[in-house]
Amino acid sequence: TKDIYILGIETSCDETAASIVKNGTEIISNVVASQITSQKRFGGVVPEIASRHHVEQITLVIEEALAIAELEPADLDAVAVTEGPGLVGALLIGVNAAKAFAFANGLPIIGVHHIAGHIYANQLMQPMEFPLLALIVSGGHTELVIMEGHGSFKLVGETRDDAAGEAYDKVARVLGLPYPGGPQIDKLAAESDGQVEFPRAWLEPGSYDFSFSGLKSSVINYKHNLAQRGEAVNPSHVAAGFQASVVEVLTTKALRAAKEFGVKQVIAAGGVAANKGLRSSLEETFKKEEIPFYVPPIILCTDNAAMIAAAGSAMFIDGIRGNLAMNGKPGMSL
Ligand code: KG4
Ligand code: ZN
Repeated sequence: TKDIYILGIETSCDETAASIVKNGTEIISNVVASQITSQKRFGGVVPEIASRHHVEQITLVIEEALAIAELEPADLDAVAVTEGPGLVGALLIGVNAAKAFAFANGLPIIGVHHIAGHIYANQLMQPMEFPLLALIVSGGHTELVIMEGHGSFKLVGETRDDAAGEAYDKVARVLGLPYPGGPQIDKLAAESDGQVEFPRAWLEPGSYDFSFSGLKSSVINYKHNLAQRGEAVNPSHVAAGFQASVVEVLTTKALRAAKEFGVKQVIAAGGVAANKGLRSSLEETFKKEEIPFYVPPIILCTDNAAMIAAAGSAMFIDGIRGNLAMNGKPGMSL
């Protein structure tokens, strides 16, 4: 059978990315133009600035992805693009670039859900086995999803307020650390020689939902109380205590879901899956339970287009095709 080459495009937040993936499993090229240095100055992603960066970069990253792969548009089978969720102005740049590229080259276009992309990043590492539990933890998402097969997503739990990555970024801000805060807190926590005790948000018994805004408030209150006594916080101790709370809740709920749904495989996805503390806690826990656990390398955890091409490949094989009426869907559901 003929090999399948899919061009993936991702612009839902602050990375402009294009990638070519072969047969849904093999990365041929993976180009990411990050805006972090620019967004850092504002302490976060400013939607209008993100869109402007995407406009500047999109054609360049697509051309580079083709050049690295040494492929012509005619060698491709389809274009897969993040249709949503995300920042509307940012999504539109990728969707319109994909539509123009597909139209100009007579290729089909496939709209991919950003979270499906994060999950399918794992397919670039090892075959997915069903039923599968995915823990998605990123700047915009904290979800537990059960997959019974390709393209089947059942949401079993989600955050009721802040996403895990959002909590990391907000707490980092409280500690005066630069954006994005996740990697900074991760580093401080790893080096810390002590930790402040913060609460765990378990919610009602049996719930697979999450809540991180109370934890964030606890950190703010802790700092405030110390300040009133004229004392300064120890950032490492706060980082370690905050991370311990996040990691314990994520690990415990993921384990309970894995057992209840009798899954054959557990995977982690999204930017926060790059967290060293979370990775080692999940690895250790699932090893003890003898449930296969996988997390992609960090470059495939944070936003990229290879994951979009991988998810798009599975959809392509299933016969799913979009059309040129495609629009960005900021609130798209899985
Ligand atoms: O998946 P992603 O690149 O973008 C979204 O789709 O949101 O995730 C970005 C988030 C940010 O909140 C960032 O602080 C967090 O992932 N993050 C981390 C780490 N690396 C990135 N959080 C904790 N520890 C890390 N090492
Ligand atoms: Zn993401």
